[in-house]
Amino acid sequence: MSTVDLPNSNSGLHGALTVPGDKSISHRSIMLGAISHGTTTVDHFLLSDDCLHTIGAFRELGVKIDVDGDHVSIEGKGGFRNFDKPKKPLDMGNSGTSTRLLLGLLANQPFDIAMFGDASLSKRPIKRVSDPLTQMGAKVAATNGNFLPLTLHPNDGLNGIDYKLPVASAQVKSALIWAGLQAETPSHLTEKLITRNHTEKMLEQFGGHLEQDGLNITVTPQSDFTAQHVTVPGDISSAAFFLIAGACVPGSEITLNKVGLNDTRDGILKALDQMGAQYTINNRTNDSEPMGDITICYQQLNALTLGAADVPALVDEIPLLALAATQAKGQTVITGAEELRVKETDRIATVTEELTKMGADITATPDGFIINGGTKLHAANTPLQSHGDHRIGMMMAVANLMADGDNQLADADAIAVSYPQFFDDLKSLNK
Ligand code: S3P
Repeated sequence: MSTVDLPNSNSGLHGALTVPGDKSISHRSIMLGAISHGTTTVDHFLLSDDCLHTIGAFRELGVKIDVDGDHVSIEGKGGFRNFDKPKKPLDMGNSGTSTRLLLGLLANQPFDIAMFGDASLSKRPIKRVSDPLTQMGAKVAATNGNFLPLTLHPNDGLNGIDYKLPVASAQVKSALIWAGLQAETPSHLTEKLITRNHTEKMLEQFGGHLEQDGLNITVTPQSDFTAQHVTVPGDISSAAFFLIAGACVPGSEITLNKVGLNDTRDGILKALDQMGAQYTINNRTNDSEPMGDITICYQQLNALTLGAADVPALVDEIPLLALAATQAKGQTVITGAEELRVKETDRIATVTEELTKMGADITATPDGFIINGGTKLHAANTPLQSHGDHRIGMMMAVANLMADGDNQLADADAIAVSYPQFFDDLKSLNK
C-alpha cells in the first residue's frame, strides 16, 4: 500500500516507447494455449498481476507454463476436459477477465473448482456470466448468487443457448463462447453492441470457427485447437495514458511503438480525432491483431461527446478522457457509460472524487460525466487515491503532469495489475 510522489512535467514528454503487451490478448493466449494440442509460444506477453493470476490458475489445473521475460510457452492439454483436479481454490486476484472467462472455459469439468478473488473483485457481479451458464446446464454456486468466492460443480453436460446479452461485455461474450464450444448443440449469441473481439480472432488463429454477422455469433461445438505462435501487440489501454499525456502536456511529442489497433478497441483514437488531437500512425501491420506506431504531440483539445454506442471500444479509457476533458475547450458530456460503475472501482465515483480534489469542474451522472474544460489542475489537500484501481492510479499520475504543485498517490501498488513498469516508462519520456 505504498504512497509515491507523483512527477510533474517541465517541458512535456519526449521520445519513444514500446508499451507492454495487451492484457486482454495475453489472458486469451494462455487460455487458448491451455486447451490446444501442442506448445503455444507467446511473445510480448504482459507480465502483470492480472495475467499472472491467469497463469497461476492454469498451473493449478496442471498446465505446464514457462515464463522467460515476456516470452511464455504453454503446453496444451489438447481439449477442455484434460485438466488436473486443482488441489486448492483458484486465486483470481483483482482480475475480472480471468474470472469471467474462466467461468465459461471451466464450466464443464468433472470435478469441483473453487475460485476466489481480492476485496474489489469479490464485489463485482458475476451473475451476468453465471445466469446464462446455468441456463446451459452449468452448476455455479456463487456467494449470494452473484459474487466470489464461488464453486463450479460437475454437471450433466452443457446444452447450447440462444442468448441476447443484456450488457455490452466482451468478458460475458467470451465466457459464453468458451462454454458454447463445449456444448452438445450450437449456441446463438446476440451482442448488445460490438465489443472487443480478441477471443474470436485468436480462436480463428488456433483453428476454431465461429459464424459472425454483425451482432450475431453462432458457436458450433468444437474442441480441437492447434498450438500457435502469438505476438501480443502493445496494449492500447496502456498506450492511452501516454497518448493523453502527449496530447495535453504542453511541449510534448512522443511515439508509442507497436500499439494494438484492433478496430473494436481503438475508440480512444476516434475520441482524440473528435477532440482535434494531432497524431499520425506509421508502420501499420495487418496480422490477426493489427498494430502500428503512433506519434502524438501537444495540441489544445476541444470538448468531447460520447454516448452508449461509443463506450465498448474505449470503456477502459474513459477515466483518461475525463481527464483530457478538464483541459479541453468547452463542455464534455459522456453518457451510456454505466458499466464504469462495476469496474475495479465505481469509476464514475472515483474519477469524479479524485479529479475534483485537483480542482476539476466535473459532475458525476448515473451513467457518465459532465465536465467543463479549461481548468488548471492544482495540488490536492490530501494524497490522491488509486482506490486500489490500476487505471485510476495511472490516470492521476498523468493528471499530475498537467498540474501546478505537487501531489502524492496513495495505494500506488495497484498499478501493477496491468502496468508494473508504468513509472519507469513515464520517467523515460518525462526528461
Ligand atoms: C475485457 C473486457 C472489458 C474491459 C476489461 C477487459 C476483456 O470488460 O473493461 O478491462 O479482456 O474481455 P467488460 O467485458 O466487462 O466490458
